[in-house]
Amino acid sequence: MAEHTVLFVDDEVNILKAVQRLLRNEPWQVLTASRGSEALEILENTPTQVVVTDQRMPEMSGVDLLAAIRTRHPDLVRMMLTGYTEMGVAVDAINRGEIYRLITKPWNDEELKAILRQAFDHFDLKNEIKRLNQVTREQNLKLQDMNRNLEGKVRERTKQVSEKHQELRIAYIQTIRALSEAVDAKDAYTRGHSERVGVYASKMGRELGLPRELIERVYISGLLHDVGKIGVRDAVITKPDRLTPEEYEEIKQHPEIGARILTPVNFLADVVECVRHHHEWYDGCERGYPMRLRGDQIPLPSRIILVADTVEAMTSDRPYRKGLDLDVVIRELHKYSGSQFDPTCVDAMLQLLEHEGEGFVRKEQKFDIHAFLEV
Ligand SMILES: [Fe+2]
Ligand SMILES: [Fe+2]
Repeated sequence: MAEHTVLFVDDEVNILKAVQRLLRNEPWQVLTASRGSEALEILENTPTQVVVTDQRMPEMSGVDLLAAIRTRHPDLVRMMLTGYTEMGVAVDAINRGEIYRLITKPWNDEELKAILRQAFDHFDLKNEIKRLNQVTREQNLKLQDMNRNLEGKVRERTKQVSEKHQELRIAYIQTIRALSEAVDAKDAYTRGHSERVGVYASKMGRELGLPRELIERVYISGLLHDVGKIGVRDAVITKPDRLTPEEYEEIKQHPEIGARILTPVNFLADVVECVRHHHEWYDGCERGYPMRLRGDQIPLPSRIILVADTVEAMTSDRPYRKGLDLDVVIRELHKYSGSQFDPTCVDAMLQLLEHEGEGFVRKEQKFDIHAFLEV
């Protein structure tokens, strides 16, 4: 069966015969009908791509037939072949039948064949575009589906990864805590010192409105600030009396030793400098060590830790004195604000002491990791 079929509709049998004769050798199936109703019946039962109709026919005019075909078979390529080229008919055929071409009788044989070829091409092209649109639509739907699945998977994996990450951070902070406890254990009087400095310092960080990552760095730096005391002789660390100048020089090594201990640990890279400079003076005077940095040259966590460290040390018992009262501590903070201490950090500490009073220096405080990580 031919792939392409054209239907000619005309009430003059001679015309139909002439057309059939003309198209005998073309690779098309040529059907004919002499009335509109017959034409519609054929189209109902035979796949057809092109229809060519006369205008003046009994029962149903060509324009009416084309309008009916347009409704029932919108894809069909419609043409009119007429001897009456009145303007009104042409306009009607175009508007109501949406015709592809208007051909006038008598026709030129080669021209008619060419027009039919173009009509079939037109039909095939439109069909191909339709098919491609359909394929594109289906592929889009499939893609949307895949995207949805992918999003779900990504969400799930992200959740798993962030849970693992959380576990690792907790484990990591606990490891650092264990290390700092080992340092404090060298001296019965400083038990819990590092943990408390970490807690005070992180509270100050929050008071200063620092971002979470920085508060975490402040806390960890607080935990580790005195880790270098591991490298200082026990006799010097636990000495109950005043230190000799030589012993004081020895003690002053601890920030540098601490930084050296931490340097090889990749994930503590941000903490190293904070530990190294936790005894610098804000005004850069010679009492600060090891490098006599001043102001902003000193890492902010170091400036915070210095205040937290001082408050912790002053409020704790020592072999030679009891822990000092808060008002003494507050007086001291005011006195050294701007020289030893960064005034901003002093203000943060004073705010905290004002709000929390004695409760702020409770000895059993621990940093609440879980609460912190969930903020
Ligand atoms: Fe220290
Ligand atoms: Fe300390």
